[in-house]
Amino acid sequence: MYDTVYFNGAFQSRARVSVSLDDRGFLFGDGAYEVIVAYGGHCFRKLDHLKRLSHSLRGLRFSDFDASTLDPVVDELIARNSVGSEDVTVYIQVTRGAAPRKHAFPADASPTVFAQVMPVVRDPAFKTGISVITVPDTRWSRCDIKSINLIPNCLANDLAQRRGCIEAIFVRDGAVLEGTLSSFFAVFDGVARTAPLSNYILAGVTRQVVLEICAREGIPYSEEPIYLEELHDAQEMFITGTTREIAPVIRVDGKPVGSGRRGPFVQRLADLFKLETEAGTMKARAS
Ligand code: PDD
Repeated sequence: MYDTVYFNGAFQSRARVSVSLDDRGFLFGDGAYEVIVAYGGHCFRKLDHLKRLSHSLRGLRFSDFDASTLDPVVDELIARNSVGSEDVTVYIQVTRGAAPRKHAFPADASPTVFAQVMPVVRDPAFKTGISVITVPDTRWSRCDIKSINLIPNCLANDLAQRRGCIEAIFVRDGAVLEGTLSSFFAVFDGVARTAPLSNYILAGVTRQVVLEICAREGIPYSEEPIYLEELHDAQEMFITGTTREIAPVIRVDGKPVGSGRRGPFVQRLADLFKLETEAGTMKARAS
C-alpha cells in the first residue's frame, strides 16, 4: 500500500486523514472520480482524465472546481510515494464536501479532494482472454458522468464474479453498451465496432486511444450500436480500460466467442496499444 495520500491541499500519511460524517460523498454519493495509470512513474493521458473529471463535475453542478489544478498534484503524489519502475494507478475523488444533510446542493460547502496511489493488479486473463456476462443496465441516464455512485456497477460486477467471470456488460434496450469498469468492442467482418458516445456510456480514455490507433493504422472501426441479438456473429470481442488495457473477451454468457481464444485482431491492437504507452512514457521522460 502506498502510504502518502493527497487530502484537501496537503500530502500526508493515510492514517492521519479523517473525513467528516457530514461529507456529501458519504451521505449522498455526491462526487466524481478518475483513475489514471502511470507506467514507470509517468502518467498516461493524464490531461484527458482531468478533462473528463471537469466534465463530470460540471454535470454534477460543481460551480467553480478547476480540475486542471490537480495536474501537478498527481505528479507530486507519484513522486512522494517512490513508485520507482512500478506501474500504478492514481485514484482521484472530489466530493461536494461537508454540509448539513439536505438534498439540494449547499451554497457554501468546500469540496473534499482526495487522491491516492494504488498498485496495478493485472489478472493473467487480461492477456489470454476473459469471460463476461451480459446484464440489464440498471444505471441512471448520465453514465457519461464518472460519478462515485457505483452500486449498479458493483452489483453487476459481483454477479459476474459469482458466475466465474471477470466483467459484466450492460445492455439497454437491446444495445450492448459497456462494462462495469470498461468499454466494450466487438469485431464484425474485420471492423471493430463500439457503442457511440452518448449519455449512456462513459467516454473511455482507453476507448479513445484505441480509436486513434485504428484511424492512424488504417484499421477499420465504427462507432455504431452493437445489438445483443447480433453478438453471436462477432469474430472477436474485447474490453478496454485504464486498469484492463485491451483484454480479449473469449466467452459471453457461457458461449465461446469465435474460436474461443484470443484472436489476431485483438492481439494486433494490444501490441499497438503497448507501443502507444511506451511512446507516451518516453515522451514524458524527455520533457
Ligand atoms: N473505470 N466505462 C466505465 C463504466 C468505467 O468505469 C470505465 C473505467 C471505463 C473505461 O474508461 P477508461 O478507459 O477511461 O479507464 C468505461 C475505472 C478504471 C474504474 O472505475 O476503476
